[in-house]
Amino acid sequence: MTSERMTVAAAAPSYVRAIAPYQGGRPISEIARTYGLREDEIVKLASNENPLGMSPKAHAAMLAAANDLGRYPDGSGHALKQAISRKFQVPADFITLGNGSNDILELVAGALLGPDAESVFSQHSFAVYALATQAVGARAVVVPATKPALGHDLAAMAAAVTPATRVVWVANPNNPTGSFLSGQALRGFIEEIPSSVLMVLDEAYTEFLPEADRYDALRWVESYPNLLVSRSFSKAYGMAGLRLGFGVAQPAVTDLLNRIRQPFNVSSLAQAAGEAALFDEEFLAQTADLNARGLVQLETGLSALGVPSLPSRGNFVLARVAASPGLTRLATPGAAVGDAVFGTLLKKGVITRSVSAYGLPDWLRISVGTQVENEAFLRALGALVAEHDAG
Ligand SMILES: Cc1ncc(COP(=O)(O)O)c(C=O)c1O
Repeated sequence: MTSERMTVAAAAPSYVRAIAPYQGGRPISEIARTYGLREDEIVKLASNENPLGMSPKAHAAMLAAANDLGRYPDGSGHALKQAISRKFQVPADFITLGNGSNDILELVAGALLGPDAESVFSQHSFAVYALATQAVGARAVVVPATKPALGHDLAAMAAAVTPATRVVWVANPNNPTGSFLSGQALRGFIEEIPSSVLMVLDEAYTEFLPEADRYDALRWVESYPNLLVSRSFSKAYGMAGLRLGFGVAQPAVTDLLNRIRQPFNVSSLAQAAGEAALFDEEFLAQTADLNARGLVQLETGLSALGVPSLPSRGNFVLARVAASPGLTRLATPGAAVGDAVFGTLLKKGVITRSVSAYGLPDWLRISVGTQVENEAFLRALGALVAEHDAG
C-alpha cells in the first residue's frame, strides 16, 4: 500500500488500533428501548453508583452554580482544592483535580508512560490501567491474582518491576473483585518499589471500608515522592454523572500532571457540587450504612441460591454464577456463564455487569442498590435458578 492510499485509520499507531474499548454498564434508557420495557421497571446494578444519588447539599450547590455557565470554570479549581485540603489535611499544591478519577489515571499514563515504558498491575484489576497503558504505547505487565481471593499479589507485583517500569497500579478495594489490602501491606509495598516508579493507589471505593479496615494513605504522601493516591466522587459521593475525582501526590508529580491536563478539565458544576459533597458527613454515613446492609443482603441471598460470592469491601459483589447448575444451563456449552446470566437478566429489566472481559467468565458483578433493588435482583436470579434447576 502506498502512503497516498493509506487510510487515516490504518495509519494510526498499531497499539491504538489494538485497543478493545472500555465496556461500561448499559444505560437504563438503552435497555428500555431494546427490550420494550418501562424505564421505571428497570433495576440498574451495573456501574457501582450510589443508589441514593448525590447529597442534597451538593445538588443544591450544583444548581446554584448553573446560573453562571456562560463563564469558563476556574481552571485551577482553587475553592475545591482548598476544601479537599481542609477535609483531608493535605497541602493544596499536592492536589490534581480530574474529570472523574479516570482522568487522573490517564494523566499519569500520559505524563510517565510511553513506547519504551512498562506499567505493572494485577490480573482482574480495574480495566483502565490496561487501557491507559496501551493508549500511550507502553507495555502492560499483568501479574496473576492470588487464589482463591482474586486479590493483588503484592510480592509478585514488586518482583515484576524492571528498569523499564514507570508506574504500578494498585486498586484498594479492587474493582471488580472487591478484594482488600491492609494499610500495612500497602506501606510495605511502597517501601519495596524503586523511587523512580510511581505507585498509583486507586482508592475509588475507600469510603465504603468498615472502620476496622481504615488506613490513611493521604498521610503517607508527604513521606513518599513516588506515591499518588486517587479518589473518586462517583461512588460514595454519588456524583458519577458529574465526573469528578482527584489525585494527591508531591508537587513534583502534580506539576507533571498539570502540564498535560486540559486547562478546564473539571466543570463548574462538578467543582461546586464537590465542594459541598465533601462536608455532607450525614449523607456519607447514610451511604456507607445502606451499603453495608446491602452487601449482607446480596451475599446471603446469593448464598441461599447456591451462588457463592467473594467477600467485598466495595459497593458491589462478585458472584460465581457458574457454581449453580441451573444458571450454568443458561449458557451454550463453552460460552461464558456470566454473559448468559447477564443477558437473561437484562431481558427481565435487571442490569448487572458481565466481567468476562476481566478474564472472569464464570462470574457476574452486581452493584449494591437499595433494599428493594437488591431484592428485585435476587428474585429475578432465584427464578432463573429454579426454572433451570428443574431442567
Ligand atoms: C477502581 C476504580 N478506579 C477508578 C474508577 C473511575 O471512576 P471515575 O472516573 O468515575 O471517578 C472506577 C470506576 O468504576 C473504579 O472502579
